[in-house]
Amino acid sequence: MAEDLDSEKLLAATAAVRHVKSGMRLALGTGSTAAFAVRALVQRFPDGGGITAVASSMLTERLARELGLNVGPLLPSDRFDLMIDGADEVAPTLDLTKGGGGALFREKFLARLSRELLILVDHTKLVPTLGTRSAIPIEVVPFARGVIVEQLRERRVASAVRVAPGGEHPFVTDNGNEILDLRPSWPVTDPSGLDQELRAIPGVVETGLFCGLAHRVFVGLPDGTVQEILPSHPSRAGS
Ligand code: A5P
Repeated sequence: MAEDLDSEKLLAATAAVRHVKSGMRLALGTGSTAAFAVRALVQRFPDGGGITAVASSMLTERLARELGLNVGPLLPSDRFDLMIDGADEVAPTLDLTKGGGGALFREKFLARLSRELLILVDHTKLVPTLGTRSAIPIEVVPFARGVIVEQLRERRVASAVRVAPGGEHPFVTDNGNEILDLRPSWPVTDPSGLDQELRAIPGVVETGLFCGLAHRVFVGLPDGTVQEILPSHPSRAGS
């Protein structure tokens, strides 16, 4: 029988949205699970609840607006009470791989401005080591892409240019950049070190490795319950 992952995403999203209070300023993630959270938010606060938000992608912004949420631009001194987002992989340390939807730069940028990052996933996203379930995306400046691919090859990291739906052209991010999906030829036992190494390559704008950023992960399970995981490491960004 096919797994009902949408039900698990909805469960996780509903549980996370219970942490939202009236008047909060929120950062909204991107992807199918984040979209469940946006809908759950509107259900919980049908009159808006005085909540204001900034979205991590044009896609999420459009959805949130259509549903009547008060979404606006990022302000110079913005800080968020909460960010609610999905992930492609969650390691036992709560380090994450994100960017399957291509919004990794804005997601990470907003996560760093948030007091708490709540991550919502279905149970298939839990992995022992990052890079085992999905590729690790990086956002790159298109002009530099070829050189970056070569520098990655020298580090024994295979990369593929992500293509847009239709398959003919590179996927273009909301920032006008491209995405390379990386498959390192070794187990990613030090995601934070890899994140720093990749970000040091000129032309790499950001990576989809989110290390030490998640405060709480909500996992929808096949039995209809939600597992809530807190980091064992006490210090998280923004705490
Ligand atoms: C968007 O860029 C991503 O970081 C998503 O949060 C991630 O890919 C998870 O997406 P789904 O919720 O659609 O699985």
